[in-house]
Amino acid sequence: MSNFDVLVIGSGAAGLTAALTLAPSYRIGVIAKGKLSEGATGWAQGGIAAVLEEGDSFDAHISDTMIAGAGLNNRAIVEHVVGGAPAAIARLAELGVPFNLDDDGDGWHLTREGGHSHRRIVHVADATGRAIQQALEKAAMAHNNIALVSDMVAIDLVTGRHAEEFSTSGAVHGLYAYNRATRRVETIRARATILATGGAGRAYLYSTAPRGATGDGIAMAWRAGCRISNMEFMQFHPTCLYNLTVKNFLITEAVRGEGGILKHPVTGHRFMPDYDHRAELAPRDIVARAIDSEIKRDGLDFVHLDISHREPEFVKAHYPNIYEKLIGLGVDITKEPIPVVPAQHYTCGGVLVDIDGRTDAPGLYAAGEVTQSGLHGANRLASNSLLECLVFGEGAARHIMAHWTELPAPPPVRAWDESRVTDSDEEVVVQQCWGEIRRFMWNFVGIVRTTKRLERAKHRIDLLRQEVADYYKHFRVTPDLIELRNLVEVADLIIRSALSRHESRGLHYTLDYPEMAADAVDTVLVP
Ligand code: FAD
Ligand code: SIN
Repeated sequence: MSNFDVLVIGSGAAGLTAALTLAPSYRIGVIAKGKLSEGATGWAQGGIAAVLEEGDSFDAHISDTMIAGAGLNNRAIVEHVVGGAPAAIARLAELGVPFNLDDDGDGWHLTREGGHSHRRIVHVADATGRAIQQALEKAAMAHNNIALVSDMVAIDLVTGRHAEEFSTSGAVHGLYAYNRATRRVETIRARATILATGGAGRAYLYSTAPRGATGDGIAMAWRAGCRISNMEFMQFHPTCLYNLTVKNFLITEAVRGEGGILKHPVTGHRFMPDYDHRAELAPRDIVARAIDSEIKRDGLDFVHLDISHREPEFVKAHYPNIYEKLIGLGVDITKEPIPVVPAQHYTCGGVLVDIDGRTDAPGLYAAGEVTQSGLHGANRLASNSLLECLVFGEGAARHIMAHWTELPAPPPVRAWDESRVTDSDEEVVVQQCWGEIRRFMWNFVGIVRTTKRLERAKHRIDLLRQEVADYYKHFRVTPDLIELRNLVEVADLIIRSALSRHESRGLHYTLDYPEMAADAVDTVLVP
């Protein structure tokens, strides 16, 4: 059993920002279920949105965010995050993130992405996330008050129900977690716990998200009694590389931002102007649906994204990682188009939090992609996500510091009980269920939905839920089983949320309710 003042579950942008803010005052434990750098943060390409260009304004960034979000955003939260952007970026620069400079070298180079009315994206070439993750990890490692613990898989939050003295207060006092090295379940207690576990993209067969994006934090918070909101709004990125061996490599939106054109691969026709006056720079939901429609109408495997009309030096300088990766796969992006398809990319819904990152459970905070903070509404604007991690990671930490004396010390809790389970003798069940979920989520709960398909998905998830619950009851936990249990939970939350929305708005598009309703209302599921 270990104890920290504050336990942070997740070592991406949200978790490490929170940890660094708290570290001068408290002892912090940060856990990651694999290596520290394996979350989505390290994979981010495009950059971070902030109002830094002359002629741009907070109002314009707020308005772009709310247009993309189809009116479902919480304006107060949007203002809070947009207003916090320049300072959040300055802090990263202080930590040593080498944002690209403009041609004069006297300011940051700002690139453009879909849905933004101005150049607004600070970046480190096309590998911004890697630079941010490295800088945050370096700063955290240098801090005596931060313990970074990798290979520790969170299973469930410790609540009053796990206390030696049973309580129904709903408060969270830490975590049960599986230690991959010892293969034992440990109890970690803390006064405050921050969920920063990222998204749930791996509920889908094709996703740009890393392997660990299985919605663990959302499922854990739900089981601990927190409300979950807007899970139907799964964002599909329009341009994931189409390749038979490399299945989840993103081609950043910044390629379209700097003039990349989407073309029909057979006719060469530039099709986006047929769908939206903003063409390739329309918000993601619109571009993804347009590509999906071209692919389905003409039975295509992919469409083309072409940047080869720009100078080869420009292309190599702006997209060095994409250039290298694709050269290795036999595609020279300075000379030929890139085959692309849409793929799941971002989880707009999640654990409901307030402006301070507080969840429904006392002592439990959340920040980053695991949350539904009100920032994104029905569709996230490009490059607003890292920003949300930075602003809410810091905000949650500041709220904990300001209310420290009100947080009760964690009570003694019961150790994990393995007395009634054995080692699994049929691991194949776990693999089979994983595959099934991801395939029917892709086919039935994808870019374009119908009630009938959603009902088919619901029927399947109900069966799988029973099977997995039965399996979980009888066998010792493994990382795969922990993730599968969470995937079943989040898939169910996504399907239920999608079934309950009787309109098309933002990322939720259903042929049965093609119109947008007059009132914008969040989906809120109550455990
Ligand atoms: P993550 O960075 O995903 O970190 C999650 C952490 O939680 C990890 O440390 C993981 O190990 C840990 N964790 C999860 N489950 C458990 C568990 N059970 N036990 C213990 N630890 C656990 N956004 C932008 O704003 N700009 C971009 O340019 C951009 N590009 C992107 C490109 C790609 C390919 C992808 C996939 C996403 C991109 N995004 C971008 C989105 C953005 O990267 C993410 O939303 C953001 O990084 C999420 O950060 P986070 O801190 O919430 O979670
Ligand atoms: C990208 O670079 O296209 C991803 C940006 C984002 O997800 O915000």
